[in-house]
Amino acid sequence: MELNWKQQVRPIIALSPMADMTDSAYCRIVKSIASPIVFREMVSAEAVIRGNDKTLDMSAIHEDERPLVQQIFGAHPDSMREAARVIEEEHHPEGIDINMGCPVYKITSNFNGAALMKEPELAATIVKEMKSVISVPLSTKMRAGWSVHTECIDFAKRMEQAGSDLITVHGRTKEQAYRGLSNRNVVREVKKGVQVPVLYNGDVFTHEDYFQALEETECDGVLIARGALGNPWIFRDIEARLRGEQPTPVTIRERIDVICQHLDLHLLQYGEQSITTFRKHLSWYFKGISNMKPYKQELMTTKNRNELIDILEKIALHLDE
Ligand SMILES: Cc1cc2nc3c(=O)[nH]c(=O)nc-3n(C[C@H](O)[C@H](O)[C@H](O)COP(=O)(O)O)c2cc1C
Repeated sequence: MELNWKQQVRPIIALSPMADMTDSAYCRIVKSIASPIVFREMVSAEAVIRGNDKTLDMSAIHEDERPLVQQIFGAHPDSMREAARVIEEEHHPEGIDINMGCPVYKITSNFNGAALMKEPELAATIVKEMKSVISVPLSTKMRAGWSVHTECIDFAKRMEQAGSDLITVHGRTKEQAYRGLSNRNVVREVKKGVQVPVLYNGDVFTHEDYFQALEETECDGVLIARGALGNPWIFRDIEARLRGEQPTPVTIRERIDVICQHLDLHLLQYGEQSITTFRKHLSWYFKGISNMKPYKQELMTTKNRNELIDILEKIALHLDE
């Protein structure tokens, strides 16, 4: 399977990378429901080249997830180049992406993530070095800027010149973190200023938001993050609309079936003891679902897979009535 951003069918629909969320288990769930391109959670370049087993396992790919883009974060051209080489050699993702948008202090204090936006020449060198060793497309994911919304316009041009095959912009600055709204106007300016495809990212929570964002930014597609948490059906809804059909509401039965499948893939990936790390997904799957109060406590405390399945079945039975 190959990925060619220029030839990819428009509009592009994609799952945005989210640390601890867009792992193999969740990407498989998304792909069992619809066909977006999935961006895997970021992995550390330094950990990859140290041969850290956990990190290398994190970037293993199941065939069902393809085409898949693996994101890498790092600040040193040599380690980013070597990490990209190792990841392509070991796991053959269809694309590699560079994290130039993470605002978290632990990341930016080491000049990774959004800090690269303050160092365009370093960022360009990283792009060139990575491109020199991989055969798949390389993309860059950035914020609107570090502190000023328009910084991404020149920065994106610089990344294109350096060889980035696709650019994603989350329309908030690093300093905003998640405050305020994602600025769509500035992403439209980025799109106008480069030849490579541009994906918009930010505040897309429904299929209506997706089409509105496309119209407002004139981008080639949209990357969806929080709107896909507990809601892999958002991609199915968008695909239905593109076929000229009305999206179908998700029934409780369907929700529970998908949660059970996701739970089993999660346990397969992390081991039988990992129910506790599945709870974050449960919170998202039941966000906004009414009449959940009697089950919440049990749902969030059980440590046993079969017990959890029983609770989920009880919910299906009662809420479906
Ligand atoms: C839990 C979580 C983890 C994230 N991890 C990453 C990551 O690994 N790499 C990345 O580029 N962005 C990461 N992001 C940012 C999202 O990909 C996205 O850019 C941001 O949430 C805005 O999109 P949204 O409004 O659709 O959520 C993360 C966001 C969340 C909520």
